[in-house]
Amino acid sequence: MSLSVKHLLGIKELQQQDIEQIFQTADNFKQVLQRSIRKVPALRDTTIVNLFFENSTRTRISFELAEKRLSADTVNFSSSGSSVSKGETLIDTVKNILSMKVDMIVMRHSASGAPWFLAKHVDASIINAGDGTNEHPTQALLDAYSIREQLGSLKGKRVTIIGDIMHSRVALSNIFCLSKLGAEVTVSGPPTLIPKHIQDLGVRVEYDVKKALEWCDVANVLRIQLERQHKPLFSTLREYAIYYGVNKQMLESLQRDIIIMHPGPINRGVEINSDVADSKHSIILNQVENGVAIRMAVIYLLSGKRDLVD
Ligand code: CP
Repeated sequence: MSLSVKHLLGIKELQQQDIEQIFQTADNFKQVLQRSIRKVPALRDTTIVNLFFENSTRTRISFELAEKRLSADTVNFSSSGSSVSKGETLIDTVKNILSMKVDMIVMRHSASGAPWFLAKHVDASIINAGDGTNEHPTQALLDAYSIREQLGSLKGKRVTIIGDIMHSRVALSNIFCLSKLGAEVTVSGPPTLIPKHIQDLGVRVEYDVKKALEWCDVANVLRIQLERQHKPLFSTLREYAIYYGVNKQMLESLQRDIIIMHPGPINRGVEINSDVADSKHSIILNQVENGVAIRMAVIYLLSGKRDLVD
């Protein structure tokens, strides 16, 4: 019961067996979360610090809940209001926190590669909660787990990822995770938001969103990451919504049901309309629910604890 890695930095470094083990462990924790007492004592002697240098709603709350459900002691750190604003470096911040006897670090940072940098300098296990435009491994794990829950297996399933592929760490981690589990992946969106040579990762590119939806079993719709775009990459949000937004009319024209996902936060009326986000096709809130069990599984497996979780 352990992973082949000491840290969860990216899906790229995981073996398929690691992912399967995380899913099986998450299955157990999902059962725990449905009990009247939604807690196990597995990590009662473990201290985890959540270091968030970038905004978050879902990931941050989900990690904190996962840690509390495992009985870990948790400490939350936000860069706003900290001594980072006085010029303290990442390494100094982390070394000071670790000197207070912390076992594990969950980190979100706007710089791609920040968790790898940190892993070279500290002994504690590090979980990447999203680094720049690079990876968001627990999001990809909970996305794939949610598809598995709906369709039984990922093998041979067709998943289209639609939107701002260029700036999305969710897209890259999903491509790695889905491919390792045997799914086929297409990326779709405006040419300016799809990286050149992305086919080298083994994915198809389809610029016509309607055709991409016709091809797939599952569509994972992504937000336009305006905060990461330093020059205009499409005319207006209204034009984007008209050509690339997913709406009810599009889904009805497919003549079969597909599953709709979104990692959040949603920009309603831009990449997805409310009549799709809130429809029976959508598993968006199931993704959020599954995130807690997946993060419990990741933390538990990285902790190296051998307590029975029954
Ligand atoms: N999906 C996701 O990472 O959402 P947050 O930015 O709210 O954590």
